[in-house]
Order: sequence, then structure tokens, then C-alpha cells
Amino acid sequence: METMAFITSPSDREVEEICRLINTNLGFKYNISKKYLITSRLNRRLVQLKLKSYQEYLEYLRTHPEEQGILFELLTTNITSFFREPKQFAYLQTRLLPKLKKERKNGAKLRCWSAGCSSGEEAYSIAISCLETLGATWDVRVLASDINTARLKIGAEGKYPAEQLKTVPPELLRKYFLALTEEKGFYRVTPELRKKVFFRLMNLLDDQSLPPFIRFSIIFCRNVFIYLNDQAKQKLLDIFYRRLNPGGHLFLGHSESINTSMDRRWLPLGNSIYHKKAGENGT
Ligand SMILES: C[S@@+](CC[C@H](N)C(=O)[O-])C[C@H]1O[C@@H](n2cnc3c(N)ncnc32)[C@H](O)[C@@H]1O
Repeated sequence: METMAFITSPSDREVEEICRLINTNLGFKYNISKKYLITSRLNRRLVQLKLKSYQEYLEYLRTHPEEQGILFELLTTNITSFFREPKQFAYLQTRLLPKLKKERKNGAKLRCWSAGCSSGEEAYSIAISCLETLGATWDVRVLASDINTARLKIGAEGKYPAEQLKTVPPELLRKYFLALTEEKGFYRVTPELRKKVFFRLMNLLDDQSLPPFIRFSIIFCRNVFIYLNDQAKQKLLDIFYRRLNPGGHLFLGHSESINTSMDRRWLPLGNSIYHKKAGENGT
């Protein structure tokens, strides 16, 4: 049986060292006030690794660079749900997508990005909205990216417990999810829906790993900004601005916003939705 009894509590310097790793790599603003979060999430990992102190863990991180990914997974929050923040999905389904459909009557390509997708619920909600509103003639793809390998694996499998599907309207549940006979209480997304979403391990602050020509009409980056320091937020807004097509839309979390009197590249549409204004060179 695992026991936490022999883990020495980290010193302030050790907590700061862990915060520095998170902040430098993910652009977070963690500080000593996160000591409880850090110990409550990492003690078990130290036990697994048979380490007795945070000093040993920091040494382990130095000699095992692959441990950083696990550290990031353990210290980030992955809460998500299908059709989270319904006002934004109402805007997408009743205003934005119908407008695109009207503009391009014969069907067209639509590229969306769920940036910080966790286990994929947001990406699948976007794909369902597109399928429902635009129909099958449109070539729709949703890029779903995150730094958490375990969450991405859930998304790629597309398998969710019934509990997690409570926010999916019943008619959409019937249409896009199949009850698993081999695993009671679990559903899997239909192959039709699955093939619209592409999961990718990626640090949002490093979009160099995405081919330079990829542009999106719609980007969702929700409930990520709240963890970021100002410099990282600005860097991410620059990346999103560059990656959006002219007139594209950016959806942030309901408690997140852009200071549009400082950053005039964005037109606020309400409910943390922003429209990309054209740049000086028309991009
Ligand atoms: C709270 S979840 C939000 C999930 C979804 N966007 C939603 O609103 O329901 C935040 C996700 O962002 C991811 N994340 C945080 N910082 C990241 C970074 N620098 N690069 C990629 N993913 C990141 C976390 O791993 C986590 O899965």
C-alpha cells in the first residue's frame, strides 16, 4: 500500500524551483502560494518513484527530462465538458456558422482549433456544431491540441462515461455517440465524428511545430488564459492573430478577456468572443 508518511515537505526554494519550471515552459504564473497544490498533486508521484524528498525529485527531473511532461500533467487543471459555456455554442450554431454557410453556398473548407483541448470534449462539441449547421458537403476539420498526453489519449479514443455526456442534448447523443456493449456505462463517438477531429501533442506557446501555412477560421482557447502570466497571454494572442484567417473568430473562457483598448486587433462580440480585425497588410 502507498504511504505519503515519509515524504519531506518541500522548502520554499524547492517549491519555487518547481514553479519556475512550469512558468518557463508553460507561461504560467505559479508562485509559493501554490505550495499546497504542488504537494497534494506531486507527493504520490514521489512515492511511485520511491523518492523521499523534493530535493531528490528535482534531481530526478534534471536527470530524466521526460519527467517534465508528467510534472506538467500533474500540475495543470484539465476540467472540461461537452458544450461548456452554452452561450458561446449558441453563437457558433445560430450566428457564426449560418453566416459562413450563407456566404459560401456550395460548401467549403472550415478549419477550427481547440487550443488546450484537454480530453477532447470541446473539440467534439465544435465538430458536432459544424456537422449540424453546415451539413456533410463542408470539409470540416478540428485540430485539438494539448500538452497532456494522457488527456489527448482519451480524446483520440473518443470514449466517455455516461456521466460526462450529461451536457450533450439527447438528439445529439443518439446521433453522434454509440453505447458500448462491451463496457456498460460508456459511449464512443461515431466514426463520422471521430474523423473530423485531429489530436496533437503541442505546447501552445510554441506554434512552430504547426506547419506555417495552417490557418483557422475559428479558434477556441478557453480556460487556459487564467493560468498564464501577461507575457504568455500576449504571446498567445500574437500566435492566434497570425493563425486566424482574416475575419476569423477567437473564443476565450467566460472569465477571460482581451484588453481591446490596448490591443486593437480584436473586436469584442460579447461572451468572450472576439473577431479578428484586418491587419494593415490585409492579413
Ligand atoms: C482547464 S482545461 C480547459 C479545457 C477546454 N479548453 C475547456 O475550456 O473546457 C486547460 C487545458 O489547457 C492545457 N494547457 C495549459 N497550458 C498549456 C500549454 N502551454 N500548451 C498546451 N496546453 C496547455 C492543459 O493541459 C489543460 O488540458
